[in-house]
Amino acid sequence: MKIKKLDPSLRSNVAPFFAMEVLRSANQLEAAGNDILHLEVGEPGFRPPEKVFNAAKYAIENEALGYTEALGLPQFREGIAHHYEQYYGTTIEPDNVVATVGASGAFLLAFLAAFDVGARIAVVEPGYPAYRNILAALGLHIVPICAGARERFKPTINLLEDVSPIDGLIIASPSNPTGTMLTNDELATLASWCESNRVRLVSDEIYHGINYKWEPKTAASFNDQAIVINSFSKYFAMTGWRIGWMISPPGLTPAIERLAQNFFVSPSSLSQHAGLAALGCRMEFDQYVKSYATNRRFLLDHLPSAGFDKLAPADGAFYLYADVSNLTDDSGVFCREMLREIGVATTPGVDFDPQQGHRYLRISFAGAEPTIVSATERLVEWLS
Ligand SMILES: Cc1ncc(COP(=O)(O)O)c(C=O)c1O
Repeated sequence: MKIKKLDPSLRSNVAPFFAMEVLRSANQLEAAGNDILHLEVGEPGFRPPEKVFNAAKYAIENEALGYTEALGLPQFREGIAHHYEQYYGTTIEPDNVVATVGASGAFLLAFLAAFDVGARIAVVEPGYPAYRNILAALGLHIVPICAGARERFKPTINLLEDVSPIDGLIIASPSNPTGTMLTNDELATLASWCESNRVRLVSDEIYHGINYKWEPKTAASFNDQAIVINSFSKYFAMTGWRIGWMISPPGLTPAIERLAQNFFVSPSSLSQHAGLAALGCRMEFDQYVKSYATNRRFLLDHLPSAGFDKLAPADGAFYLYADVSNLTDDSGVFCREMLREIGVATTPGVDFDPQQGHRYLRISFAGAEPTIVSATERLVEWLS
């Protein structure tokens, strides 16, 4: 008789998040009494405004808070459609808004609804690691687009032509880890290239609202077959509420609905109520962005004197991606030493770029201003 092995599936063998490992080491050092400055986490250092908590409290007291429709509460979907009208001047039908378990839940639904096993999906390196890892677990073929400093870490038509044919393209602007943004013309060009080449564009717009130079447009304005993903985790500072959304092309919505019913039944109803309230707090959230802008300016002014002088442009989001190849040939070791010796936690680039990441590290400036100032002082002293 053949003995069945009870090993984990091969598809589950995706890369871990090194950022989480750094966080674990930083937390252990902190628990042991060390003064640790957290510049490794991509999480706003703010609590959402009271209006969000009040809406949640009201919902707890007055709503049944049962399952919602798989695609979300009608008022949530209408609220998001209204947000597109107000913020981007783009008309979106509430029927094509899907409430999701964060952007992460939207990736799963989008990739499954749009692509079959073996489809070739282009991802930008450096980029958010979960794209690659989810695609791999789903049996999709990852096509890396290596966009370096020369391309300002952005995908170009030439780079896409080089790896074609492809079935899908995932972009994020502003990007994690580099913070670089596509200009609205570049976004329009990529969107129309995808349309002409029958490539499904997936646009992760999670850092919209956190931009320092210009207001980004949504890919939905340029390509009606694009899947747009967004979330309350970053601009709205609601990471733990696990709520996001997707704008689905009409032809995909029924497929997404069937998958959502089976995978999640529905997203959290409490978080949908809270998210809806957050949409009405832009003034408060814009204050948070001002604080990120102050942190960004401080780092850009002071990091070069510590030897971090090759920084990605950081047009948006709350990260600086630093080329540290003048200081080390292994940014993983460098980050561990920095954490141990001066208590500053950052993320090594290998999470974001398996090829070139060893030359880079990511600094998050989403935290409080005094944290950023102290971390910079420690770095300057350490490296001088
Ligand atoms: C580019 C990008 N997309 C998606 C996510 C995950 O977002 P969510 O918390 O909404 O699942 C992150 C989190 O850091 C991110 O940086």
